[in-house]
Amino acid sequence: MTLEAQSAAIAAQFDYTDDQVNNAVNEFRRQMTEGLEKDGTSLSQIPTYVTGVPNGTEKGLYMAVDLGGTNFRVCSIQLNGDTTFNLTFTKVAIPRKLMVAKTAQELFAFLAKQIELFLQKHHEDHFEQHVRRRMTMSSPDGYKDEHVFRLGFTFSFPVQQVGINKGTLIRWTKGFDIPDAVGKDVCALLQDEIDKLHLPVKVAALVNDTVGTLMARSYSSPGKTGTVLGAIFGTGTNGAYVEKLSNLKKPLSGEYDKTTGEMVINTEWGSFDNQLSVLPNTAWDVALDKASPNPGIQMYEKRVSGMFLGEILRLVIIDLLKDPKVSFFKDENSSSNDWKSTTNIASDSSIYTQWGLDTAIMSVAAADNTPELSTLRGELEKQLGIYSAGLDDAQAFKAIANAIGRRSARLSAVAIAAIVLQTGKLTHPANADEPIDIGVDGSLVEHYPYFRDMIYEALRAIDGIGEEGAKRIRIGIAKDGSGVGAALIALVAAGMEKRLTTADYLGELRSNAKSNNLTVVPEDDAAQD
Ligand code: BGC
Repeated sequence: MTLEAQSAAIAAQFDYTDDQVNNAVNEFRRQMTEGLEKDGTSLSQIPTYVTGVPNGTEKGLYMAVDLGGTNFRVCSIQLNGDTTFNLTFTKVAIPRKLMVAKTAQELFAFLAKQIELFLQKHHEDHFEQHVRRRMTMSSPDGYKDEHVFRLGFTFSFPVQQVGINKGTLIRWTKGFDIPDAVGKDVCALLQDEIDKLHLPVKVAALVNDTVGTLMARSYSSPGKTGTVLGAIFGTGTNGAYVEKLSNLKKPLSGEYDKTTGEMVINTEWGSFDNQLSVLPNTAWDVALDKASPNPGIQMYEKRVSGMFLGEILRLVIIDLLKDPKVSFFKDENSSSNDWKSTTNIASDSSIYTQWGLDTAIMSVAAADNTPELSTLRGELEKQLGIYSAGLDDAQAFKAIANAIGRRSARLSAVAIAAIVLQTGKLTHPANADEPIDIGVDGSLVEHYPYFRDMIYEALRAIDGIGEEGAKRIRIGIAKDGSGVGAALIALVAAGMEKRLTTADYLGELRSNAKSNNLTVVPEDDAAQD
């Protein structure tokens, strides 16, 4: 069999037809409802205790930290109250050994240290004043609470939330594995380490990155109907949306404001259909799952998100290299190579190790439309030590990579469509001309060429959405979602702390917004500096 025919046959295994997409949307909706009714379901549907989305008039200075992938970010955010904000941040890679540390304390001590370094660097005055105050204070608890930064903690793993700043870790994802942390309150873990360093910081809110994305998008682009979904398509994938309280049937333990009639739900859709009733399942999906730290879990994420796409491709490539019937990355001699010299793969190429193929090269493959695929061939050399790949090799690589990327986008459309349909906004006569706003973030939507186009293509084929519906769905990037969103939730939490009941607080928010249409929280109350 020729390489071209073989790669086309492999690519076809990643097809996900319109019928399959429609079938999956129905199943997604069924699993959404199930998750709203009881605990322990595949789609967790976690209540977040966040009962409203912002409108862009919020003000104040807040801190946010973000743990959820390869980097840890610390930021301070000045919300200007006019849909704009100023954000200062530092970013540090999380050492691999801390992702799989023996104790949670090791990881959280590292995080607290980064917060200290950030404060010293960017808020030196505040930090120094605080240290001075502490040293002159007769009682260590004597300093005033308003000198303390409110911090929103974006923690992008499945957490059973029991209040706005309290929640226990259900399971790790995305390569993290510290069993000691499972079942513990992650806010308390962070606060303990912050306190050991005597930092003027209070963990005020616990936020999933998708919830942050939803908040940030609502703040920056408020419309009549508000943003309905915040979604991440990056290292991992997940979505949070606004659900009617009346649909949320499972019992809630914490306090929350009932007056809005809504609550943001963190779907944890990475675990949609762990039972594989509608998800595609090639031999390479099976192999990836088997070798992962969490077999049988996050099955949708393992077919959609950036951490896994490169690994699926790597497994296909390894199989093709072993296939005696095709000649892949191995021409006989330089005369059969159209480009440079005889193809060879470095013996220490990362293609031979698990996770050794960075998904970013799939973006290069998708973007390279030159006749010789010279950019891709350059990257194969640079990133994977595959020297002098032939044009046919690069074409095969591209065809397979594109098929995996396309399947991911079509699966992404399933979740988006199910949630849009669930909100009923497409058919509601009151919003007939309004766009259905969706905020997204993550490396795939940002950097993978045509990812959004491929999502739209699938959306158009979905019953109940079609051409017209797809036109109304506005998928926009929510930059810095996790920082700004966490700040916004810390703001709500700060209001709750002031011993107003939540309902009073939100009532105040709304009447302030109505009366002066400028400031939702009086600036003095909101600013902590
Ligand atoms: C986590 C989610 C998170 C998503 C995107 C998933 O692995 O379970 O909580 O929102 O990644 O970061």
